[in-house]
Amino acid sequence: MRDETTVSAADIARLAAVGRTAVSNWRRRYADFPQPVGGTPASPLFALAEVEAWLRSQGKLLEVPLVERAWQELRARAGDDLQLAAALADAGDLLVKSQDSAPAAVRELAVALGAADAFEVLLRRFQEGQARRAAVTPPEIAELMAALTGGAQTVLDPACGTGELLLAARDHGGACRLLGQDAAADPARLAGIRFQLGGSDATVRTDDSLRRDAFPGVLADTVLCDPPFHERGWGHEELTADPRWIYGLPPRLEPELAWVQHGLAHLAPGGLAVMLMPAAAAARPPSTPGGSSGSRKRATGPMGAGAASARSASRPRSRMPRNAAATSRL
Ligand SMILES: C[S@@+](CC[C@H](N)C(=O)[O-])C[C@H]1O[C@@H](n2cnc3c(N)ncnc32)[C@H](O)[C@@H]1O
Repeated sequence: MRDETTVSAADIARLAAVGRTAVSNWRRRYADFPQPVGGTPASPLFALAEVEAWLRSQGKLLEVPLVERAWQELRARAGDDLQLAAALADAGDLLVKSQDSAPAAVRELAVALGAADAFEVLLRRFQEGQARRAAVTPPEIAELMAALTGGAQTVLDPACGTGELLLAARDHGGACRLLGQDAAADPARLAGIRFQLGGSDATVRTDDSLRRDAFPGVLADTVLCDPPFHERGWGHEELTADPRWIYGLPPRLEPELAWVQHGLAHLAPGGLAVMLMPAAAAARPPSTPGGSSGSRKRATGPMGAGAASARSASRPRSRMPRNAAATSRL
């Protein structure tokens, strides 16, 4: 497999820790620089093995880092960067079953680091290359949110993506039962593999949490969520009579309030919801009749760079005592 692995000029630059211009110069100046084996004239692809040998012969590289080899191996398997998440998940599934069945360099990486850490490293590499970084809760925010939960046993994230918040709840909040749901299949699959490899008691489901809750009736000590608050087609029309809206039907243009109420509906008595909110939610007027009065929180003070927090003072229409906290994205 490794022999078939191809790399772009940008990959070569990363391998040798140089800029793209240096790679263009090498191609021009050195007649023995490897010829493209694929791609297009504008975006040529080179055989990784040939590039590796050439870089080493020129003293430009001692060894291609193992992580990079494993990553390029996955890219070759994916064939198309749009399939990278699936290729990574396939490799992860093999690691879960048996390290020996994983692709060669991934297996080598797993031997060196352990399967769980090897998968984490490759997942980070995948996330770095994603154009939509917003789909991942930044680690410092995840840690802050998890720290607020302190001591929760069961944690639910109904928009869990690849599982950063749930992992932070496990590693920094001591949570031992992790429940996640995400509408997108690949991130949910990746989250599930992370938890399996990490030996966590976790259940991750793929589906739309607002329209088709995968955990009906399940109560968690903590709900952690960084919801997709700019999504206007969240289901306002079909969910008008939903029993979750005990504070009123969330306005169509304020999906974050649907997510807050979804989170509150999953809280055990005395539980805590920590939700990342859009900054605008903190600045809106507090309530309108028939609107979302009880679930709209005001940010009350700074909690660090770029974030603010708010804790609900009272919840008059709540059927059980609950707490909620919100951090807001500025
Ligand atoms: C900001 S990301 C959350 C990242 C995640 N908390 C983490 O720890 O990395 C928002 C996630 O919401 C998911 N999503 C969007 N609409 C959804 C829905 N209706 N139900 C469940 N998940 C949804 C997206 O697929 C995306 O993964």
